[in-house]
Formats: sequence, structure tokens, C-alpha cells
Amino acid sequence: MSTTATLATLSDSNLAADPNWWRQASVYQIYPRSFSDSNGDGLGDIKGITAKVPYLKELGIDAVWLSPFYPSALADGGYDVDDYRNVDPKLGTLEDFAEMSAALHEAGIKLIADIVPNHSSDRHEWFKEALASPRGSAARERYIFRDGLGKNGELPPSDWDSVFGGPAWERITEPDGTPGQWYMHIFAKEQPDLNWSNREIRDDFLKTLRFWSDRGVDGFRVDVAHALTKDLTEPLLSKVELSEANTGTDGFADGSHPFWDRDEVHEIYAEWREVFNEYNPPRTAVAEAWVHATRRARYASPQGLGQAFNFDLLQADFDADEFHEIITRNLAEATATGASSTWVFSNHDVVRHATRYGLPMGGGVHAKGQDGKGWLLAGAPAEELDVELGLRRARAASLLMLALPGSAYLYQGEELGLQEVADIPDSERQDPSFFRNKGVEIGRDGCRVPLPWATEGTSFGFGAGRAHLPQPAWFGRYAVDAQDGVEGSTLELYRKALKLRRELQTAEELEWVETGNPKVLQFTRHGGWQSVTNFGAEPVELPAGEVLLSSAPLDGKLLPGNTTVWLR
Ligand code: GLC
Repeated sequence: MSTTATLATLSDSNLAADPNWWRQASVYQIYPRSFSDSNGDGLGDIKGITAKVPYLKELGIDAVWLSPFYPSALADGGYDVDDYRNVDPKLGTLEDFAEMSAALHEAGIKLIADIVPNHSSDRHEWFKEALASPRGSAARERYIFRDGLGKNGELPPSDWDSVFGGPAWERITEPDGTPGQWYMHIFAKEQPDLNWSNREIRDDFLKTLRFWSDRGVDGFRVDVAHALTKDLTEPLLSKVELSEANTGTDGFADGSHPFWDRDEVHEIYAEWREVFNEYNPPRTAVAEAWVHATRRARYASPQGLGQAFNFDLLQADFDADEFHEIITRNLAEATATGASSTWVFSNHDVVRHATRYGLPMGGGVHAKGQDGKGWLLAGAPAEELDVELGLRRARAASLLMLALPGSAYLYQGEELGLQEVADIPDSERQDPSFFRNKGVEIGRDGCRVPLPWATEGTSFGFGAGRAHLPQPAWFGRYAVDAQDGVEGSTLELYRKALKLRRELQTAEELEWVETGNPKVLQFTRHGGWQSVTNFGAEPVELPAGEVLLSSAPLDGKLLPGNTTVWLR
């Protein structure tokens, strides 16, 4: 497999300039509104992040990925952007951003910004102008406007559903007050899709990439990277025809869907790559692309974005066979394309893995394809949840992930072993998928509840005010101050693992070791470092070697069930 620079031998300043810094980075996702609140308004903010840089440094991560922090009405938690080149005044200012970026860099941490190119918000200047302008105008051409079907255009141009439920088209009122055209929105109606065949849109995003790159952003996470280009030649296929035409098991395998994963999208990323390469070190990117497994590599190509999220482990059950197959396949794919693998168990869109692994269905998110359902294991009954088992398996899985070649993406709070908050009252929910899909999905708010920093006090140390999503009484148990310096706590496990990973990790390869037990996975990394996971419930004999770290206490010469150990 491909080899890269030995990270451990590079000095800090070399590391800062290393064009390959991202290939095996540990990246920590911050959902800014729920991380740390500096001014007591109940919403996390940029200054709050800056104040926690020492915490991030001690955690030992290589980079922060910041979910959207742009001006937004928060119709979709900030993924509805009003202005791509500014900071939400509720979160701070461009000066605060500069301060945060400097503090992170000072601490040796890179900064990855989320960019949302598929849709703007309906409060963006462009959309306001489109509504105020006539049919066929240049302003309408920045979005996807169509006349409706039916005698008076009263029916949407197609029967497509939005990802959050409900129709994917919304009718507008024309400037003269009459019912008018329809615009397309794959997500909420506050998120009109941009028209990427319009050169103006393409140029404006190149400007945005440079804007943030000039302000210290080292890389970009590209939101729904596979949706930008569309072929809406009429007649549009119905949703039944589309699902019949879908021959893949997890998405179209041939690029023929009218908006998901079309081949032309890569022309856009080739242009982005040119911008990334204007910088030293080149800016990096990671695609969020829920596509057929055979098509992911195109997003991750070195001529494109460089990396793509691989959600396979996140969708897998806690199962040795599934993990083995996924890891082997993805490493082979990365080697073949020159990308580096990515791994992730939790993010702001899915139930936290400490909870998934405690549920009877096995732990996978079951989100095959873009049906939106996978975003929530719709309200599993609390009595079926085994919190202890969930956390134990989550620790084992995370320790395994941190031993894998490639980049590990972590989501804020997983280092605390935080559980999903299942019982948010309907009146407090914020996620559009809850409102647009009533009774089917309970939405993603449960993994977005503000972090507990302190065992007690207002909003558990998140800020001086009431947190914007309610924190349950049990949150204090998972607080940073309850785990800091406590031997065996999840926080200390992550700190040790991240530190060791930095020291031990060299070439991007692994070698499987035959264990003779189908429930036990063992592999060696270059330099003789090993990771062994017992996915079963029964203890097994511990392989020989010096124990570096284990996800649960070892039992003499035995490796207990649901446990990972690192050996040398
Ligand atoms: C991505 C984001 C998700 C958002 C959606 C629409 O999937 O991760 O949070 O709702 O895009 O922007």
C-alpha cells in the first residue's frame, strides 16, 4: 500500500507545511451552536470554541471540522446559508473567526470549514432577487425554477420527495401577486437548490473557497457533494420510474439519476482542485457523498476533492465479519486511487454510536441510499437500550478505528461517551426532518444537544444561559470535569489513543493476523503496533505483546468481550 511521510519524525513546523498532513489526520467535528457558549445566549459561538482550544490540544486531534457558522435562520441547523462569506452574527464576527483560526494554528490544529454548495438559504440575496424578478430572468437562472404542471401550473413539475419528507418543489407567488413558478429543493423549502450549470454560481464559489483559504482555512468539508449538477430535461421521470431505474443497491451505479451523483459534478471539483493547489500547502477537501460504493473513489481522486467520507462502518453492525470486509475493501480502494481512507462512526446527522450499539438492532445506521430514513432509528423504546453495552462497544469500535490507516473523523461528545438524547419534547425540536416527516422520523436533534463541560451548574458548563436544546439531568455524568484525569474514563481513553496514534502511526497500511476465531479481528501496523478487537461476548486469550491501551480493563491474560486492545 502507498506510503507517506512518517508523521512522527516530522517536527511541528514541518508538519504545518506538510502537504500530506490530512492523509492520516484525526479530525474532530465541532457543531458550533452546541459546543461552547461564551456569551450566555444559549447558542454556542466562535469565541466559545477559541476558549476551548486548550481542551482540543490536550485531546490530541490534528484538525477541527467546523459545521456551518455562516449567517443563517437555522432552518436546517446552519446548512441553510444566507451569506457564504461571513460569520453568523449570533456566533460572532470575522474578527472572532480570525482569532479562533490563529489560536487553533498556534496549537498545531488545522481548520476545515463546511461548505454548502448545493443550496443556499431562501434568505440569500440571490433568492430574494429571484423572487422579485420575472420568469426567465437572470436572477431566476441562479436557481431551479420551473412552471408547474396542470391546467394552471398548480401541480409541481414532478412528484419527487425532498430528503426531509414532503415535496421537493415549492410554489412561489410572482411579484404581481399571482401564483407562480415552482423551485426545486432537495432538502427543506428554506434550502433552494442552486443552478450549477450557471457559470456565475461556479465563479462565486471559487471566490468563496479563496475567501476562506485566505483566512486560514486549511480544508473544506463539502456538503452533499454529489447533488450539485442536474439533468432536468423534460419529461421528468416519476419517483416510481426512478426507483425502478435504480439498479444499484445503494444508489445509482451509472450516473443516470437526474440529480444524485452525475458524472458532470466532477468538472466542478477539478476547478476547485486548481484553487486548492494555489495554496501552500494545498487546501484539502472531503466529500460528503452518499453514493454507490463503486463511485465514491471519483470524489476522492487527487484531481478532485482528495477524500470522501466512507460511511460503511457507520452503517455496519458491531460485527467482526462486517468490519473486516469494510476495512479490507476500503483500504484496497484507497490504494488503487491514491486517496486516503476515511472512517467515521458518529456525526451531526446520525444517532450517536454509543447509543446505536446499545440497541437490539445491532448498531448500524441502516441508511442505505438517500432515503433519509437512516438518520434516525426512529425512536427505539428506551427500555430496549443497554447503555452500558452501547458505551463499551463504542469504546472498542473507536479504539479500533483510531488504529486504522487513513483519517479518523470524530464527532464532538463521542470522546465523552455521550449518549443520544432520545426524549426531547416535540415543542423543543428544531430539525426540519422532524417537522416535514411527522411520525416517521424524530429527527437529528438528539445528537446535537449542547456538550456538558461541568457536572453541575447552568447548562452543565456549556454557557451561562439555558442551552438551545434541552440537556437531560443525566448529562452531568458525562461531563468533561467528571472525566478529566480519571483513569479509565472515555475522555482519557481518547486522549491516550490519539497521542499514541500520533507517535506510532507511519505508513498507510495494515496487515491482518489470522486469529482462528471469527469474532476476533487482529491487525498489525508498520512498526509492529497491533490492534485486537473481541467482538464476541466471551473472553478470549490475549495475544502476546506489551499492552499499550485497552478500551476496557483486561482480565489477567484474557481479552474480555466487546473490547479492543493495542499491543506492541
Ligand atoms: C448534509 C448535512 C445535513 C444537512 C444536509 C442538507 O447531509 O450533513 O446536516 O441537513 O446536508 O444541507
